[in-house]
Amino acid sequence: MNSFYLNNYIRSCQLKDYGKGGAPLDTILDCSLGVNPAPLPSQVMLALQNIDQHAIKQYPHDETVLEKIALYYRNKGISWLSAGHMFLGDGSLDILRSLNFLCLTYGKRVLGQGPQFTAYLDHVNCLGAHFEYYPMSKGNNYKFEAENYLNRMTSNHDLFIVENPNNPTGQVAALADIDSIAARAASYNKILIVDEAYGDYMPIENSAINLIPTYPNVVVTRTFSKAFGMAGIRMGYIITSSGQTSDTLIQFRKVENQFNCNGIARILGMAFLESDAKIPDRDQIAANEPPRGKPRGIWNVGQFLDRRLVREEIYNTVWFNTKFL
Ligand SMILES: Cc1ncc(COP(=O)(O)O)c(C=O)c1O
Repeated sequence: MNSFYLNNYIRSCQLKDYGKGGAPLDTILDCSLGVNPAPLPSQVMLALQNIDQHAIKQYPHDETVLEKIALYYRNKGISWLSAGHMFLGDGSLDILRSLNFLCLTYGKRVLGQGPQFTAYLDHVNCLGAHFEYYPMSKGNNYKFEAENYLNRMTSNHDLFIVENPNNPTGQVAALADIDSIAARAASYNKILIVDEAYGDYMPIENSAINLIPTYPNVVVTRTFSKAFGMAGIRMGYIITSSGQTSDTLIQFRKVENQFNCNGIARILGMAFLESDAKIPDRDQIAANEPPRGKPRGIWNVGQFLDRRLVREEIYNTVWFNTKFL
């Protein structure tokens, strides 16, 4: 096989299996992807049947879906939010990767948490940057302890990231904790990404979106993949400050693909937001199968985690076998 010159960080990076092959047969709880298994609202399927060929023939420029997303949050009480605070991506992973391009180059340092969504770590490694983390402890049921995270933050870090809720533990960090981390990151003049891929499963009051007016360095990533159950359309988005307060979004647009998030996805996403879909609350969702004798939920998966399962290389793909329970 020919082995031409390629970025060496990419060549040496070992990709993980992000649940592609599905969970093994004896799996009783699949925490790898966390997609809401409820059927899609009929309005989405109807919109699919009525797709106009314009959506396929033209490059996707229509940003009405951003207006609808902003409205979704304004209806939840986030009154200042407008489409101007957002940008679409091919899923939130795409947004996270662009944020990495924006903040990281060879040798730069990111502080995250362990365990954490592994695909993000892989991208950091591919850039030749370093992912450092605060290991959440089994003794404390993998609860997020802000003090431990704060103790590891230094002005030499180039980027900070917290997942809330966390994958795979399902643990939710309190907004007050994210607030203190945002304040510290701001004092270092650095960005804090709050990855809220699972954010729709927690009350809006706990979302870091609420911190953006106070901390322009806070960047929130969200997605249609999880609670909305639309992982196949690949639609995610960034929310951050704009205008006079920070130029992050202006710079972000330079690295993000301008033709991201295809026209069909935008129409289906809008149909979802206009539908009567109810987002199940955290206790009703989202593991594919509940652990034996336990209520359904990705929540507090930490209590089932075993050291043997929480290894760096399998962060995002946590499968439980009956023998662990
Ligand atoms: C914590 C977390 N962030 C981001 C993502 C990326 O999701 P998507 O690109 O579908 O929005 C995932 C997917 O598993 C995830 O678990």
